[in-house]
Amino acid sequence: MRPNTMTIRPLTGSIGAEILGIDLREIDDAGFGFIRRAFLDNCMLVFRDQRFGAAELLAFTRRWGEIFHTPHAVGLEGFPDVIAVRNRGKAGTTTEYWHTDSVFAPVPPALSILASQVLPPAGGDTMFANQYLAYETLSPGMRALADSLRAGYYRSAGMGRLMGDLSAAVKTAVHPVVRTHAETGRRALYLSYDPAAVRLEGFSAEESRGIMRLLEAHATQPAFCYRHRWVTGDVLMWDNRCSVHYAVHDYGDAERVHYRTTVVGDVPG
Ligand SMILES: [Fe+2]
Repeated sequence: MRPNTMTIRPLTGSIGAEILGIDLREIDDAGFGFIRRAFLDNCMLVFRDQRFGAAELLAFTRRWGEIFHTPHAVGLEGFPDVIAVRNRGKAGTTTEYWHTDSVFAPVPPALSILASQVLPPAGGDTMFANQYLAYETLSPGMRALADSLRAGYYRSAGMGRLMGDLSAAVKTAVHPVVRTHAETGRRALYLSYDPAAVRLEGFSAEESRGIMRLLEAHATQPAFCYRHRWVTGDVLMWDNRCSVHYAVHDYGDAERVHYRTTVVGDVPG
């Protein structure tokens, strides 16, 4: 499939684009170059009506680089590089806050791809926010502060959900709160807003929470966001180096399944 059959439709004035006129199973190198440029320009992309199974998702993902293996996640039978993201109930969800994927890894993934499998009757949207814009629009004072910050990321020994007590937690990574994107050269805020598992280095827990609340309110303001309402067959991909996302859990016990892959990134800096 060649680029001249494809068109880009921006989804908001700040983040996201839909690529129209494309079958991701049939892209050639020129088509892939077109998608890659659109991805770097828009932080996240939507492809409708692709209806990817695990094999198609894996083949498309491999075009982007080496597969990132999410620690402690178990892949599908026959496709260990593909994870099924299922409804674990609102209390059991670990993605209902603004975050960037696997930030607790020393070398976090550059990008993530989701392919819808089963959708609830309503709800289960995913929200995205542009973190280039978040950084570029900080006040000079907050930008200088953000530039100086480093965040420590913690996991419980069993990789379960931390509840704010970091005394028994393991610090698995420390990343700068502002990073330079290796491919675009642009600077972006880079922070996951899980107060139970993140602590700004050199600050008390209370100070860290306060600064993070200020940054989060700015970084996820509606003008920087796109909210995706899933339709069967959708494939989404986002750049973890310049966006944060939030999985809304408003669908109770309804079944919701997405297949997910992630691609290796670089050390944030
Ligand atoms: Fe996520």
